[in-house]
Amino acid sequence: MPEKVDLYDSAYSHYEADVYREVRIATYGEDLGQTSWVTNEESGEIPRILRLTPACRVLEIGCGSGRYALQLAETFGCSVIGVDINELGIRNGNHLARVRNLSDRVTFEHCDVSQKLLFADASFDAAFANDVMCHISGRPAVFQEVFRILKPSARFVYSDALIIGGIVSHEEIASRSSIGYYLFSPPGHNEELLQRAGFRLIEVRDTTDHATGIARRWRDAREQNREALIASESEANFVGLQQFLSCVQSLTSERRLLRFLYTAQKRG
Ligand SMILES: C[S@@+](CC[C@H](N)C(=O)[O-])C[C@H]1O[C@@H](n2cnc3c(N)ncnc32)[C@H](O)[C@@H]1O
Repeated sequence: MPEKVDLYDSAYSHYEADVYREVRIATYGEDLGQTSWVTNEESGEIPRILRLTPACRVLEIGCGSGRYALQLAETFGCSVIGVDINELGIRNGNHLARVRNLSDRVTFEHCDVSQKLLFADASFDAAFANDVMCHISGRPAVFQEVFRILKPSARFVYSDALIIGGIVSHEEIASRSSIGYYLFSPPGHNEELLQRAGFRLIEVRDTTDHATGIARRWRDAREQNREALIASESEANFVGLQQFLSCVQSLTSERRLLRFLYTAQKRG
């Protein structure tokens, strides 16, 4: 059974390193500092689904490196607050905001989203979370908090790559969970929780193939840069992450784990 493996600390602390940038470009095509299963096509579509305009104040839950939030602010003129439990990601995001002269419109705050959010009621025009909800305990309460901080009719978009689609062994669950805390959900459960929190469900899209392709390209790109990555993150961690990525690829290609993109709207 794999040991605990680090993904996020090394990705965010080595964000500027050439090898990590090369791996992101080989994996995603465009470097948006990703550590997720979001294709470029999906990251281009999220602003349209959220109906972003320059007047919008947007919350990104689990913003990781912060690079995507900055891209949204640069492209759409909106303001973004990114929150994440990883302090290295928050530090990187605020550094990038300063370098890009965007600190007046984009800020990053350290926050455990399983706790009550420190934002006022109805204070955001949109919220999104790319491959984050599966890490956060107490999903019904998290949805209630997102509902509370959104304005009436505002949209909430998030992806969940841990929907159970078939039989998964305990070894596979251990490998798939080796990088952190994870929650696996039965099909239909997210829909039920969103509606219970007061959201209207707009769309549920099957994006399982995004995870398959990204996991394969990510693992292959890391293999191409094996020596440099081992020097930076240790051999044991390198091997553990390769196993994690292979596990994601096989589980999603066989549709035993599914990824869905949910779009919901606050009633009112
Ligand atoms: C799969 S990564 C996605 C990062 C980014 N959204 C992206 O698309 O690259 C999941 C992120 O969720 C964050 N996270 C995990 N648990 C969290 C929590 N309880 N509160 C806030 N963020 C959390 C992790 O630190 C990590 O940055």
